[in-house]
This record gives sequence, C-alpha cells and structure tokens, in this order.
Amino acid sequence: MNRVVGIERGGNHTVVEAAIGALPPRSSVPDAQEQRFPRVDEAGPIRRDMEGPSHDVADEYRKAMRDLAASVTIVTTRCGNEIHGMTASAVCCVSLTPPLLLVCIAKSTRTHRLIAEGGVFAVHLLLQAQRDLADRFAGRLIGCDERFNGLAYDHGMTGAPVLLDCLAFLECRVTAAHDGGDHTIFIGSVEDVGRREGGRPLIYFQGDYVSDVALATSTTERGAYVAGLSA
Ligand SMILES: Cc1cc2nc3c(=O)[nH]c(=O)nc-3n(C[C@H](O)[C@H](O)[C@H](O)COP(=O)(O)O)c2cc1C
Repeated sequence: MNRVVGIERGGNHTVVEAAIGALPPRSSVPDAQEQRFPRVDEAGPIRRDMEGPSHDVADEYRKAMRDLAASVTIVTTRCGNEIHGMTASAVCCVSLTPPLLLVCIAKSTRTHRLIAEGGVFAVHLLLQAQRDLADRFAGRLIGCDERFNGLAYDHGMTGAPVLLDCLAFLECRVTAAHDGGDHTIFIGSVEDVGRREGGRPLIYFQGDYVSDVALATSTTERGAYVAGLSA
C-alpha cells in the first residue's frame, strides 16, 4: 500500500505525496470487477514477488517509472542577469482555476538554485523533432553555459527566457515550493501561454525518446488516447 506522506493544497486540487509500499493481495480484487475489466495482456497477471528476499522496492520503482511515458519539456529560468534551463519530464497541471503548474527539479541542479532564488520559470513542451534540444538541455551534448547558443528566444513577461520554437510555452511565477526528497516541487501560477496547433509532442518512454506517437483514430468530446508509441 502507498502511504501518504504529505498533502498540499494547490488551487482547486490537492497534491498528495505517497511513499511506495506493498500493494494489497490480489485476492482482495472482487470477481465482478475482473469481469467488467477483462485482462488485456495474454502474458497473464503482473508478477508479484513482493515477499521475496531479493525484492528491492526502490529498484522496482525505478524500473516501473520507465514505463510512465511522459512529455519532454525544457524548463528555463532567470535570476538577476543569469539565465539557465534544463530538460524536465516531471511536469504536471495542478489546477485550471487558478491556472497552476508544477515542476519537480533535482536539488543538485543549477536550475534549482536559480528557480529558488529568482522565483520564475517557463515550461516549454517540445516537438517530436526536438530530441537534440532535449539532449542539449539535459547536459548530454554541450557545456552548461552554452545551452542557449544559436537559439531564438525572447525575455518573457516574468523575465524568464522563452524559446520561440516549441509546441507550447507556459510562463510561471513560483507560488509555493514543497520538499520532495532529492527534488523540490515548485508550483507556479501561469502568467502567459503561447502554443501552436497540431504539433506532435516529444515523448520519453523506457529511457529513450519515442520517434512516433500514433494518435487514436477515434476521438471523443474530451480528446483522444494515444494508440501507439514506437521507439
Ligand atoms: C528526458 C529527460 C527528462 C528529465 N526530467 C527531469 C526532471 O523532471 N527533473 C529533473 O530534476 N531532472 C530531469 N532531467 C535531468 C536534467 O535535465 C539534467 O540533470 C540537467 O543536466 C540539469 O541541468 P542543470 O544542473 O544545468 O540545471 C531529465 C533529463 C532527461 C533527458
């Protein structure tokens, strides 16, 4: 069972932090529910060796998170004259009214220091063709001080650099910062948004970028589920 370790209010939503623990035994799932949601994987039920001597929750957690497909973003920030930015996928909508967005930033990063001191950040959703940009802002291609070299950017209304070539940007002012282990959860009120229609997002899945996101052919009023991801 996941144990709740923190509850924070954010707009009309509440952020509940949970520590990972053992799930309830499978026998507690009622039969009627199994019939309503038939198994979709012929490989059978999920492996449950939680009691085994070699079971390492931290290691299994890391592996499970590789299956959490996530949009890739670049988070930029400014403090005084210093601008910086990094690649981040731990980004989430917190609330629509008021508009609040959260980013989880490792305490060890330079971006963390600048957001904590400057109080502003801008999140940029990347396009599928921008994996090199994601690698650059993750420190994989060039030095830390060269990340903005050759890129078109403006100074946004918060002062954070706004990259002009992306799927969407959201400029935020920090309203709260919560401790989250080796990361800090920064919640920002969204002060400006720019977006383009119809672009495909860059997705990270199982430790790599997804080269093709197949959108479902049938859509509902609320939107469409993604039908497939290819590596
Ligand atoms: C796809 C991808 C997603 C990432 N997501 C995050 C994230 O959500 N939070 C984080 O702290 N680091 C994340 N990182 C790692 C940072 O981008 C990396 O540590 C970066 O070099 C930090 O830069 P800085 O220390 O110069 O600020 C991610 C890296 C990649 C490639």
